Amino acid sequence: MKKEIEQELNKQLNRELYSAYLYLSMAAYFESINLKGFAHWLKVQAKEEISHSMKFFEFINERNGKVVLEVIEKPKVDWSSPVEAFKDAYEHEQKITSYIHNLVELARKNNDYATENFLTWFVAEQVEEEAQANEIYQKLKLCEKSVGGLFTLDHHLGKREE
Ligand code: FEO
Repeated sequence: MKKEIEQELNKQLNRELYSAYLYLSMAAYFESINLKGFAHWLKVQAKEEISHSMKFFEFINERNGKVVLEVIEKPKVDWSSPVEAFKDAYEHEQKITSYIHNLVELARKNNDYATENFLTWFVAEQVEEEAQANEIYQKLKLCEKSVGGLFTLDHHLGKREE
């Protein structure tokens, strides 16, 4: 595997760990305002992000590359409202999608079919990641003047399976 690709895959591994950190930080925010269902959903999401990072970990090793773990950036720790938090989550996923697409382009440019094939899973996954963050964001906007709606959504999100 080319050095540049190995380095870019390592960067994405770090971004996935940062994603876990960001969602865990959001979970802590929701715990602090007693919306336990949102907190649960975000804790499950954080675990999913760690599993994404592990896919990069295993793939880099399989290709005889070297995993290099870098510092994980400190995430934001507070939000002004649930809507603001999920706006951030949605925008974060859009950013991750563009990083994945850049990686696909790099793999293509280098005729690295194995990396391109590996990334296909992430291209599809990002469609889902964006859709679910956006759905919660849009619902939260509808709930802005309805505490009842917020509690119903909290209850629903608390049922997310691990
Ligand atoms: Fe690993 Fe939320 O994308």
